[in-house]
Amino acid sequence: MSDEQRLVYVCEGGDCTERGSGDIHDKLKEQALAVDPDEEKVRVRRYPCFGGCECGINVTVYPDKLFYSHVKEEDLPDVVKHVLGEGPAVDRLTGAVEPDIEEMAWMMLDSPY
Ligand code: FES
Repeated sequence: MSDEQRLVYVCEGGDCTERGSGDIHDKLKEQALAVDPDEEKVRVRRYPCFGGCECGINVTVYPDKLFYSHVKEEDLPDVVKHVLGEGPAVDRLTGAVEPDIEEMAWMMLDSPY
């Protein structure tokens, strides 16, 4: 992974899926690919469950370690701008889950698999 490249994970656990995370994943990916078709700057992938289910839809940005919660379709342009390096992190979406949930997510994402 180059220094510039970000990995965005969209939760596809049961609660997030019920809230429409499948659509969020597809739209986020579509918007990112429209600007970055070869995924040089960002890859959008699904993630099984972050454990912050009551705050879904949850999306993480790595290696920035941003844990976005309650993500809605209208938030996606801001998220995409940031991950492509064209805007600030979307602070209004952070801080909803307990710190230990975030820590667990970063531990999982930090570990090679
Ligand atoms: S279902 Fe999304 S965090 Fe668990």
